Amino acid sequence: MSEKLNLEKSFKLYDDALNLIPGAILGIRRPYNFVEGEYPIFFETAKGGKVIDVDGNEYLDMLCAYGPIIIGHREEEIDNAVIDQIKNKGFCMSLTQQVQNKLAKKLKELIPCCEKMVFVKTGSDATTIGIRVARGYTKRVKILRCGYHGWHDWCVENKGGIPKKLYEDVYEFEYNNLDHVTKLMNTYGNDVAAIIVTPINHPGGHEVEMPKPGFLEGLRELADKHGALLMYDEIRTGFRVNLGGAQKKFGVIPDLAAFGKALANGYSISFLAGKEEIMDVLIEEVFLSSTFFPNSLPQVAALKTIEIMERDDVLGSIRKNGEIFAKNIKQVIEDSKVPCTFSGGPWMPYITFDSDPNYLYRKLREEFYRQLIRRNIFLQPYHHGYICYRHTVEDLNNAANMIGESLKECRKFM
Ligand SMILES: Cc1ncc(COP(=O)(O)O)c(C=O)c1O
Repeated sequence: MSEKLNLEKSFKLYDDALNLIPGAILGIRRPYNFVEGEYPIFFETAKGGKVIDVDGNEYLDMLCAYGPIIIGHREEEIDNAVIDQIKNKGFCMSLTQQVQNKLAKKLKELIPCCEKMVFVKTGSDATTIGIRVARGYTKRVKILRCGYHGWHDWCVENKGGIPKKLYEDVYEFEYNNLDHVTKLMNTYGNDVAAIIVTPINHPGGHEVEMPKPGFLEGLRELADKHGALLMYDEIRTGFRVNLGGAQKKFGVIPDLAAFGKALANGYSISFLAGKEEIMDVLIEEVFLSSTFFPNSLPQVAALKTIEIMERDDVLGSIRKNGEIFAKNIKQVIEDSKVPCTFSGGPWMPYITFDSDPNYLYRKLREEFYRQLIRRNIFLQPYHHGYICYRHTVEDLNNAANMIGESLKECRKFM
């Protein structure tokens, strides 16, 4: 039986923050998204594949900042390139710096749909400018969507504070259900500007799903048939499943795609990429500008991150280690006889508990993640994990053992 961690300082900081920030912490990092009372609330430092909380507990970081950490925390080559830019050139100027073009050329070389692109800062920026571009180009208003696309008015789940007119033209469809999309397109097709989808489905709290054969191809056909655009939200899949994105991996090319997260190993940058003719609506008809979008630091970080990823075959290594990890976890789950499922393949490992009428799965989930954090493995009950390059085979084998032990602890409820 592992002991509860000492988290005194985390709780104290949380109490302070309650008086400063509504809810103390923003969104998904709030304590109720973990196991309350068991998880740290504040981290102090991070290096490689590990994080240390404010009370000095060290964890294997398998959440990777929710996706941006693709190589590892505090990667010296990347940070040094950024420091060099700060010290020798500067990064916040009234005109654009030339590193923009260098990064753009590299991305164009890597990503199939990318003839032109615009750099923004967050995933929500990139998906939202994509929707605006699609509407500007097609002169249509309706959107079909599937997946989490960020916090902006058109797509956020919690509708508080948003006038209905800002999302009433947006229709959700079920992933891997072409019949559903066909029905929606038969009803609204002539008014649909874009179908936007996360090429891999990663819904909160549920299994990660890969596209069924024919699903992405079917979306492509439906979009073409009705004169709508196909847009991928590659915020999580980009620079993780393949350097050219999920579109390169699965071979179905969208008209537009949003990228972010892993592109710069933690520095804040995202972009919308797409076919030239479509993207060119941004020349005049469709407006985009922001004080910080042209900031060159994350562009420098992105270039260096890509350079390392290509040089060291980072994604090949993540895939290889992730496949071994996935195999080990499936075995550990089978041995445990606990009703749970592994999903996410080699990139987005996730253990979800199979639902049952008596809600036993909730108890099992809570106990499992409680036991796991006590064993210093940092994962999140309602979100899949990630594997980064600095996770060693030894780290991942240890995580598999800890997962096995934690599942065994769950057996007391069965
Ligand atoms: C698939 C996807 N799209 C969009 C977003 C929004 O990105 P951001 O939180 O950077 O605004 C996220 C964030 O998790 C995401 O996972």
